[in-house]
Amino acid sequence: PLPFILDTDPGIDDAVALAAAIFSPELELRLVTTVAGNVSVEKTTRNALQLLHFWQQDVPLAQGAATPLVRPLRDAAYVHGESGMEGYHFVAHDRLALEAPAFQAIYDCLTASEEPVTLVTIGPLTNIALLLTHYPDCISKIKRLVMMGGSAGRGNFTPNAEFNIAIDPEAAARVFRSGLEIVMCGLDVTNRAQLTPAYLAALATLNRTGAMLHALFSHYRSGSMATGLRMHDLCAIAFLVKPELFTLKSCFVAVETQGEYTAGTTVVDLDGRLDQPANAQVALDIDVPAFQAWVAQTLALAP
Ligand code: BDR
Ligand code: CA
Repeated sequence: PLPFILDTDPGIDDAVALAAAIFSPELELRLVTTVAGNVSVEKTTRNALQLLHFWQQDVPLAQGAATPLVRPLRDAAYVHGESGMEGYHFVAHDRLALEAPAFQAIYDCLTASEEPVTLVTIGPLTNIALLLTHYPDCISKIKRLVMMGGSAGRGNFTPNAEFNIAIDPEAAARVFRSGLEIVMCGLDVTNRAQLTPAYLAALATLNRTGAMLHALFSHYRSGSMATGLRMHDLCAIAFLVKPELFTLKSCFVAVETQGEYTAGTTVVDLDGRLDQPANAQVALDIDVPAFQAWVAQTLALAP
């Protein structure tokens, strides 16, 4: 199985991504780290621990950055509810996060591995920027970074910027300049990666996991239960398991950090107009029916 680390800000679509991360037989989840994004880092950590407990998983979890590198946090409670995972009552447990902060735990996990490890980010890139700053030698230990973030077209937080990049543009800019091999699954594919109303309804009785996700989905404001819900973060996990579902283009990507109205925009140079070497593979198309079939197959494996 492919060893990887998941950096997340649960988040309702993050919860689905975590389910697939755990129950895909092709994957080996070695560490979960949390970051401030959809809600505060205390809440994203609490949510991630609740999910790990729900699935009886003992994968270690480390809490990460409480604020973006230089900006105050602007959250997405309007999408995911006040708790970040509104809609399901999780039982109490006594699981704790590791002592080490996320960037340190990631570095320790990378160093302990005999083979390079894949990093998957489905929240703002703050922890990864801190990792790169504290441990520049981490690059050789990372196989590649697969992110849900950015857009080659329009945004979903500001007119041009996608949420994960817009929340911490300075961190994202640092990551895109790092030399890491990057796969960017942005809104170009994730807006299309929807679950159908019929499948969403069927989830309620699929298994315990389906019932839990169904309850969360009734509070998730990324699409609607009646027309389909966008599974942004799940695309990053789908890419690990089924890269053939995605059409990628290698190009230069820069993150705007200065613009009065455009900070957090991923400038994706599809036509090579900036004459810069490519630094990312950008997902531009996804096989939606095949994605939906993979989701159904994977969530059926959950308890
Ligand atoms: C991203 O923003 C968050 O609200 C979602 O969890 C996803 O990571 C989509 O733009
Ligand atoms: Ca997320």
